Amino acid sequence: MKEAPIAVITGATSGIGFETCRLLARAGWRLRCIGRDARKAAAAAAVFRSSGSPQVEVFLCDLASLAATRQLGSELAARGEPLDLLLNNAGALFHRREVTAEGFERTFALNHLGYFALTSELLPLLQLKRSSGEVPAAVSARIVNVASAAHYGGALDFDDLQMTHNYSGWRQYQNSKLMNVLFTRELARQLAGSGISANCLHPGFVASRFGSNNVWWWKALFGFAKLFAISPQKSARAVAHVAISASLAQTSGAYFNLDQRATPSLAAQDDSAAQRLWRITDDLVKSMSDSK
Ligand SMILES: NC(=O)c1ccc[n+]([C@@H]2O[C@H](COP(=O)([O-])OP(=O)(O)OC[C@H]3O[C@@H](n4cnc5c(N)ncnc54)[C@H](OP(=O)(O)O)[C@@H]3O)[C@@H](O)[C@H]2O)c1
Repeated sequence: MKEAPIAVITGATSGIGFETCRLLARAGWRLRCIGRDARKAAAAAAVFRSSGSPQVEVFLCDLASLAATRQLGSELAARGEPLDLLLNNAGALFHRREVTAEGFERTFALNHLGYFALTSELLPLLQLKRSSGEVPAAVSARIVNVASAAHYGGALDFDDLQMTHNYSGWRQYQNSKLMNVLFTRELARQLAGSGISANCLHPGFVASRFGSNNVWWWKALFGFAKLFAISPQKSARAVAHVAISASLAQTSGAYFNLDQRATPSLAAQDDSAAQRLWRITDDLVKSMSDSK
């Protein structure tokens, strides 16, 4: 009998990631849920099991830390399990500029470096699907990056990607989401013909816990705006569509607005910017591993 497919999902404990896990669970997927709070992750896992997933496992990781993300990658790699889907979803906006213990601006670390590092770590496991010959179709495993329509306002300053000057939480969030789209573009280019696809999407404006990590007036602003937002359940239906629908099995390098293919900003279609961002990020990630 064919084994149930396996998905790794970040940000599985709340909002869009939580609801997407529920949908995948109902569709019979095995889940490898990444959370950072043991109690929340255990509670979420119980919901996914009761929603029908034949196997749910939880991994704890602060995805704003390269060392922790690498550790998570090694833990998953040691199991040697072929993966069908990686959903990079965990993300946040930081109103005030914060620097992680590794010295990175926190939005850049979580929203961009986190996606890049976890993907690099898990590529060999996504590739296993094809090597094992289980899925003969051209694309046998998928990567989906949750970006945002906020990327339309993004403008990268390659000399200051971590916004050391004139930090604005919203502008840096926009930039990080532009990075998600550029990362997806370059990833899809590099993975062409490999059997792994890479797409990204705007999940809608969603009434999740997004923004709740910030000062009271940000929370109040988000709280008011969320009156006009869609539900996490509706957003998750679009995410699941991009992640698992058979109709998109051959699609790679695309940007979706919910479940509809859309054109990203001009800045997000710049191949040389995508390659430049890749090189800079790869150097940063490698320099961190070399310094260990
Ligand atoms: N909500 C929107 O309107 C909207 C619009 C466009 C794009 N997005 C994007 O959608 C994605 C999901 O956001 P959401 O709306 O579902 O927000 P959410 O309800 O706040 O969920 C965010 C998830 O990310 C996890 N997370 C945050 N920091 C982390 C860290 N350092 N390490 C590991 N996990 C971490 C959170 O874990 P905890 O549960 O432990 O906090 C939570 O599971 C984000 O990438 C966001 O940029 C959201």
